[in-house]
Amino acid sequence: MFAGNPSLTSVHVSPNILATAFGICALAGAWIFHRRSSSHQEYFPSPPSDTFLGHLRIMPLDFLWLTELAKTLGDVIHVSIFGQPMIILNTAEAARDLMEKRGANYSDRPTTTLLGKMINWGNMLAFVRYGDRFRAQRRFVHQYLNSQASASFRPAQTQQAKILVKNLLKNPTDFRKHINRMSSASVVKLTYGHDILSDDDEYTNLAVAATSRAVASVQYIPSWFPGASFKSEARLTRKLSDEMIYSAYNRVKEERASGTAQPSLLNSLLEDYEKTNAIDKDHELNMIFATGNMYAAGVETSEVAVVTFILMMARNPEVVKRAQEEIDRVVGTEQLPTPEDRPNLPYVESIMKEVFRINPPLPLNLPHRSMKEDVYRDKVIPADTLLLANVWNMMRDETYYQDTEKFYPERFLPKVMAPGYDFTKVCPGRFFADTSVWLAIANILAVFDILPAIDPVTGKEMPPAAEYVPGFTNKPKLFDCRINPRSDKHISLINQECN
Ligand code: HEM
Repeated sequence: MFAGNPSLTSVHVSPNILATAFGICALAGAWIFHRRSSSHQEYFPSPPSDTFLGHLRIMPLDFLWLTELAKTLGDVIHVSIFGQPMIILNTAEAARDLMEKRGANYSDRPTTTLLGKMINWGNMLAFVRYGDRFRAQRRFVHQYLNSQASASFRPAQTQQAKILVKNLLKNPTDFRKHINRMSSASVVKLTYGHDILSDDDEYTNLAVAATSRAVASVQYIPSWFPGASFKSEARLTRKLSDEMIYSAYNRVKEERASGTAQPSLLNSLLEDYEKTNAIDKDHELNMIFATGNMYAAGVETSEVAVVTFILMMARNPEVVKRAQEEIDRVVGTEQLPTPEDRPNLPYVESIMKEVFRINPPLPLNLPHRSMKEDVYRDKVIPADTLLLANVWNMMRDETYYQDTEKFYPERFLPKVMAPGYDFTKVCPGRFFADTSVWLAIANILAVFDILPAIDPVTGKEMPPAAEYVPGFTNKPKLFDCRINPRSDKHISLINQECN
């Protein structure tokens, strides 16, 4: 869901300031730890920790490490960083019990002063605290992104899938760039009705800069980090972010005034608002932030899914062949697959499910926060605990899946029903994302073979490794592969359909 920029990890702070901040936090953490442990409450099992720092040394939390830990400690694990408790839910059952059945207590979001106030993302739907603002923004996005409303964006999404195919034909080596462009152009069109026509689009440049900086601030820079460079970094991030959301908002308002606005989420929200003839600053702020959130929320997640698909196809050419047989039989070779073909392409569908299983784009979900103390399986979960759902591990649960590291779409075919990665209950962009990812997968399979790269020295195929860069999203590491048109006839089909 969110892009990180590792270059921001190197914030320079004087060692003295750092040591002082570190000492204060360690003492505060130790005090909280002492207070909690002396109350004789029983918590979920924890890995060994440092007295003062808690589990800080094992940060950042890595889902691979947590998956290993679950094997010895069980499916619910308690960790603590400077006295901040966190619960890791390693099975779908535990996640359902708390996040769904007791959702009223666990739907809040944690926020930091840095992200929430200094960078001003505390009003964004994905980070806003549970309350009126959250409910208003959820209502907005649900109203215009529900399954029926999302269907009206299918022509624009189909167009983006065609641009992707055309770009892959022209320059297959840059497949990651083309996939990113498809994903961002689709989300920007949905949100603001704006067409991204070049690689140097003003809104995209701002969105990439603001989003990567804001996310890096959460991933790499603790909110208590002092120092002038940290503050100036936060100021710059806020400037970029405000510019990103306000400039896009104002542009759509101007387009509405001049009668040139294209259909979009924001256009519909403004239309409804204008009908009320009211001036409601709070409502305006909610429209600004609900839409301002979409780029960060929607681009990288879909992109990771499609890049993972390419990776898995390059490792499993027999899957590509089987999918192509299905597409040729159902759709033919005179046209590209459309959403109407989807119900008749069960194998393509199972490939998509297996992509989400083998590499869930948000492997630890987004953090939730408990509002009140709770008792679950006789163990205490304190108020203000962060909850992380280890979706990576859930998708490898041997109760449901065998041979979990194997890319095996057949496991999802009707006879072998297994639960897939279910971002459907929680992500408001799910219907839109589902169509974008499906269109990319089906269109690429229809016209391209995806093969391992060839080693220039030995002349042998080199299947890419299934390796990822852990972060909020789990991007596949850079890899090479060959994306070749299936035949001259398929080249003609691309040229004819994708202009
Ligand atoms: C394959 C692509 C996607 C995946 C896997 C995905 C998954 C998720 C997940 C797991 C969450 C967190 C749910 C939770 O807190 O428990 C989420 C939240 C969210 N997603 Fe998506 N998402 C995708 C694409 C999109 C798209 C395209 C959009 C917008 C057009 C979008 C908008 C959002 C928003 C606004 C939130 C925050 C919702 C809230 O806090 O209530 N997502 N998504």
